[in-house]
Amino acid sequence: MKFVFPGLVVLSLVAGAAPFVLLEPQPAERQVTNRPNQVVEADFTSSNSCRACHPAQYATWHASYHRTMTQVASPETVVADFDNVTVVHVHGRPMTLERRGRDFWATFDDPDSLGSGGTIATRSGAGGADRAGGDAGVGPGSSLGVNTTPARPRITRQVVMITGSHHQQIYWYATGRNRLLGQLPAAYLVAEKRWIPRRSAVLHPPGETLFSETGHWNSTCIACHTTNGRPEFDTPFGSRPIDTQVVDTRVTEFGIACEACHGPSTGHAAANRSPLRRYTSHLTGRGDPTTVLPTRLDPQRSSQVCGQCHGVWEFYDAAGERHANSAGLPYRPGDELSKTRFVAQPTRNLDAPTMRGLLEVDPGFVNDSFWPDGMVRVSGREYNGLIESPCYKDAHDPQRTMSCFSCHALHQPAGDSRPVKEWANDQLGRGMDGNKACAQCHEKLAGGLTAHTKHQADSEGSSCYNCHMPFTSYGLLKTIRSHQISSPSVASARATGRPTACNLCHLDKTLAWTGEYLSQWYGQEKPPAGEPDVSSALLLALTGDAGQRAIVAQAMGWKPAQQASGTDWMLPHLAQLLDDPYDAVRFIAGRSLRTLPEFGSFEYDFAAAADRRRDAQRRVMTAFARVRGRLPRPGDPRLLLTPEGDVDVPGTLALLKLRNNRNMLLRE
Ligand code: HEC
Ligand code: HEC
Ligand code: HEC
Ligand code: HEC
Ligand code: HEC
Ligand code: HEC
Ligand code: HEC
Ligand code: HEC
Repeated sequence: MKFVFPGLVVLSLVAGAAPFVLLEPQPAERQVTNRPNQVVEADFTSSNSCRACHPAQYATWHASYHRTMTQVASPETVVADFDNVTVVHVHGRPMTLERRGRDFWATFDDPDSLGSGGTIATRSGAGGADRAGGDAGVGPGSSLGVNTTPARPRITRQVVMITGSHHQQIYWYATGRNRLLGQLPAAYLVAEKRWIPRRSAVLHPPGETLFSETGHWNSTCIACHTTNGRPEFDTPFGSRPIDTQVVDTRVTEFGIACEACHGPSTGHAAANRSPLRRYTSHLTGRGDPTTVLPTRLDPQRSSQVCGQCHGVWEFYDAAGERHANSAGLPYRPGDELSKTRFVAQPTRNLDAPTMRGLLEVDPGFVNDSFWPDGMVRVSGREYNGLIESPCYKDAHDPQRTMSCFSCHALHQPAGDSRPVKEWANDQLGRGMDGNKACAQCHEKLAGGLTAHTKHQADSEGSSCYNCHMPFTSYGLLKTIRSHQISSPSVASARATGRPTACNLCHLDKTLAWTGEYLSQWYGQEKPPAGEPDVSSALLLALTGDAGQRAIVAQAMGWKPAQQASGTDWMLPHLAQLLDDPYDAVRFIAGRSLRTLPEFGSFEYDFAAAADRRRDAQRRVMTAFARVRGRLPRPGDPRLLLTPEGDVDVPGTLALLKLRNNRNMLLRE
């Protein structure tokens, strides 16, 4: 990657950073008027001025996805192909893309024109992605590829900004109204190298049509996807920036840079220009009060540095939001986070006035992010999981209190032999992808490993993570490990609908089976009989809500689960999920299917019309007929197989009728 921060040349020279070469003449940043600007202001100075003195930290940060979170669109940063491409997978008519020199252009239906039947987003808060509810349609089958509403005006716009670089890229165009951004109706998946309708990138109710995201970058994404963002629009509180006259959105730095975690450090850079001071602080190693090293803070304050973005939060009131609009968010690393913003955690503050107010305007605020027991269920909100973990909240000794830094290293440690990409993937400390992460505090349990885990030492079933941080959080079209440490329990699975860790590997087993072993092995009380005698995963796949179905669909593609449960029996059930009403569930089911031995190049498009999806289902069933002979006879009724090894169709359909069709929008 090349660095082009033209507006910062002068500053970086002053601060002593190595000068760098511009690729070609670029207009001065402040002269770019069609998108938000990157401007060094107030007590922030930008990563360029840290580079000369901290080359190693600069280099590892440069390799991280934090840096590339938000970027100006350029041939170096845009991952998708724009060279005369037509994208059919959008809501509405196909979008066409073209390159004009170094610039990127798109032609598409105007999401801001109110075509009949369409509604547009109504609110832009700062607490999370996809805050606006939208025109949720109900009913099975999505309208993808089918344009049901009357045509909207076509517009051609320049793509100027990008959100994301790791899993997906979302593209923003210049609306022509100041620095206000609008969003292309399709997003690009990096690994799959394909476009998908933008609304399919999140788990949301089917049947939605074109949707306006205009202004959301300026008002919402800016809070967690940039460093020191200031929305700066002149609309009164509560109205949309789309109606505004003046939008002068500015950030210190696109992307999540040094000062997001270390606090504004202009003073620090200046102070250390004195060699004597540099030498003394290096010798004493006592820390430097002019900047913030998160790991010197106590575990609570240090985790809040991450929680400012990796948490569910909202403004306390309209005054707070108004103030942040022009002055930026007041939180600084080292501060108590809850002083300046409301960290929403239903187990703690369901009755708080701010929460009650939020629920009044937005009844899904809690249910769309949390399980019924208050465990956060979406990704990117790990702080909420941490603060509810026993290792954090029941610890009394700061040395033994879990924080994000118990496991994560935000700079790749010196001497670490992992390829930088591998470190950047989850930014884990050395060895922290295994039992060492827990053993640092729970030495005894790790010592008597198999006595505790009851699985062979080298089994996936002996990984602390797999039983205590299972993949039950959803986001970015996949699941991630829950960051709330918990233990498998049938009672809590029943109360919350969240699968137990055991059943996410033992996909072929019932909850009662799990209860039996939890009682035998761990002395848990034996649960009374409950649900039908069908595997827990299948029950969730057939009767669960869309979020639960997504979790099971993902687990079916997970190697350890395939190892523990076998795969042949999964085929009819994955086939069923290929026609799920939710785009996200179909997408994940298709990807899991492709992990199976004979399906590596199976052709299936989750966004295709219904008849094509049914055809894919038929092809899976034909394949199932071939592998059926490998399944044990008589067929296992808990897997909805008949004694002959056929699919128990009436049983399956009866359960499918019970599917929880509640409208779901998971707010990752
Ligand atoms: C409360 C903070 C917060 C807000 C507000 C927020 N995000 Fe995010 N976003 C995150 C975090 C944290 C992650 C990383 C999640 C992960 O890796 O699981 C993320 C990840 C993403 C990614 C994936 C990036 C990649 O490289 O694959 C996209 C795309 C994204 N967000 C889009 C948006 C958009 C669009 C908005 C505004 C409408 C927005 N987000 C608002 C915190 C936020
Ligand atoms: C996402 C948060 C984050 C970002 C962004 C970040 N850092 Fe850090 N930095 C940390 C944390 C946390 C530590 C503690 C050690 C670790 O986790 O690797 C740290 C450690 C450091 C240290 C001290 C190293 C030592 O142990 O003596 C320096 C210096 C530093 N960072 C500079 C930078 C610079 C310069 C940038 C930008 C180019 C940057 N950091 C970006 C979070 C961050
Ligand atoms: C002119 C040189 C210089 C510049 C510029 C500079 N630093 Fe430092 N920084 C130092 C020195 C010297 C130390 C302390 C000695 C050491 O550990 O190397 C230090 C220490 C730190 C620490 C560790 C503090 C602690 O409590 O241990 C962090 C974090 C840090 N710098 C971040 C930054 C960031 C972020 C920037 C850019 C905004 C920056 N530095 C710019 C020289 C500089
Ligand atoms: C200013 C907001 C912000 C801060 C502060 C921040 N993050 Fe992030 N973090 C994000 C966003 C947004 C992403 C998504 C980046 C992407 O994937 O492109 C992310 C991604 C990550 C990832 C996953 C990388 C990937 O792409 O999968 C990890 C791990 C992570 N952050 C940990 C931390 C930790 C630990 C801290 C505390 C030192 C922290 N972050 C501080 C916003 C932030
Ligand atoms: C920084 C230290 C630390 C780390 C790291 C840590 N824990 Fe803990 N954990 C504690 C403390 C302290 C408690 C509170 C009770 C106690 O003192 O044992 C606790 C409690 C627990 C409990 C609940 C105990 C009970 O009696 O209900 C479980 C389960 C647990 N930890 C599992 C884990 C797992 C699994 C990991 C790794 C993924 C982990 N912990 C990592 C410190 C830690
Ligand atoms: C006990 C260890 C542990 C602690 C504590 C911990 N994490 Fe993680 N984290 C992990 C592991 C392991 C992964 C990789 C799991 C996976 O593959 O999903 C991970 C992954 C992540 C990811 C990337 C998820 C993705 O999209 O793949 C983010 C973001 C993240 N952690 C943020 C945090 C933040 C923020 C904190 C503190 C609030 C934190 N973590 C505390 C172990 C931990
Ligand atoms: C096969 C699943 C499984 C694995 C693997 C596993 N645990 Fe557990 N763990 C449990 C269950 C079940 C409980 C019982 C909870 C209860 O009290 O009902 C438990 C309880 C605990 C407790 C609290 C009670 C106690 O015995 O002190 C801690 C702490 C703990 N585990 C830590 C760990 C650590 C550390 C690892 C990895 C070395 C680990 N566990 C691996 C299933 C597992
Ligand atoms: C990460 C995957 C994973 C998790 C989580 C897991 N197991 Fe296992 N389990 C396995 C695998 C793989 C085997 C096969 C033998 C081995 O590797 O030890 C197995 C074997 C078993 C067996 C013996 C063989 C059988 O099928 O009858 C039992 C009983 C069992 N697990 C129960 C549990 C229980 C109870 C839990 C939760 C407390 C659990 N497992 C959690 C992967 C897992």
